[in-house]
Amino acid sequence: MALDRFGRRIHYLRISLTDHCNLRCLYCMPEDMTFRPNAALMQDEEILRLTRLFAELGFDKIRLTGGEPTVRANVVELVRGITHTPGVRTVSMTTNGALLPRLAQSLAEAGLQRVNVSIDTLDPAKFRRLTRWGDLEDVWDGILAAEEAGLKPVKLNTVVVKGYNEEDVVELARLTLEHPWQVRFIEMMPFAGATRLQVTQMVTAAQTQARVEAVFGPLEPVNDGKLDGEARVFHIPGAQGDIGFISSVSAPFCASCTRARLTADGVLRMCLLREYEIDLLRPLRAGATQDDLRTLILDAVWNKPWGHGLAKGMIATNRVMSQIGG
Ligand code: 5AD
Ligand code: SF4
Repeated sequence: MALDRFGRRIHYLRISLTDHCNLRCLYCMPEDMTFRPNAALMQDEEILRLTRLFAELGFDKIRLTGGEPTVRANVVELVRGITHTPGVRTVSMTTNGALLPRLAQSLAEAGLQRVNVSIDTLDPAKFRRLTRWGDLEDVWDGILAAEEAGLKPVKLNTVVVKGYNEEDVVELARLTLEHPWQVRFIEMMPFAGATRLQVTQMVTAAQTQARVEAVFGPLEPVNDGKLDGEARVFHIPGAQGDIGFISSVSAPFCASCTRARLTADGVLRMCLLREYEIDLLRPLRAGATQDDLRTLILDAVWNKPWGHGLAKGMIATNRVMSQIGG
């Protein structure tokens, strides 16, 4: 069991399979984003070796992220290897959904349990503007394909951006009336160097909740209003699905954080929003033993930062979201 110095049990590993992406959401990356060469990324065997090690240390919950994880070559076989690692209990994926019409079924057969699909609007023209060239229909088909393949409950992630989609939250929330999905509204987080928009166009969870309640009336808390992971969950009375609010900026959930992140280039990052990180891939390639790597991981976990410093205006500058894995 991996404990940090504040007594938090760290057992949730988010593995970024690649920093590459087939979209360019404007709050995430510039249109001419440059990606790391494949040789700088963990190879399949390296990911599996590290996954085994993390699982031995008690990490039983894994989420695969990107960039966009589905653009990685051989992703289905890699997922199979990860889901079949002894000690790994749940494996889910955060994806933009565009390739799910092709991949959902095989990913489910490979043992993937759930997906979170990013969808910021239901308006095709706005979707194109936000993602620069994405086709909303692909993502919608991807959501249906995920559901059909049994990757349930399907969760939808919406980052709310002032001037782009803050009004679209109403139609997204409306989806929960008819679908047993969890639609989650996420506060935009700042990563220095990514884009100024992240600071100037942020919308708080409270503002989004007020906008949804103005149309649907007061939302009912699910689970007595307790956090489900990072989301505070509600539903519209009588709805099939839930609505979650993720207030990473305005009301951080650091005290209950159980996560670590492994970047696509093999660096262990203990807080999304802090620069502290430990390279695992370089020592692995230099011949480190399992014991050496175990020590590196346990030290990094022990030194996990308490939480982020956004309230004090501290923004991590060494990586942007797509280079960490969200
Ligand atoms: N703040 C919050 N969420 C972000 N995402 C990408 N960039 C940011 C940001 N700056 C979201 C994506 C996707 C998930 C991987 O993270 O929309 O849902
Ligand atoms: Fe790609 Fe996700 Fe970033 Fe959009 S938010 S550009 S889908 S990595």
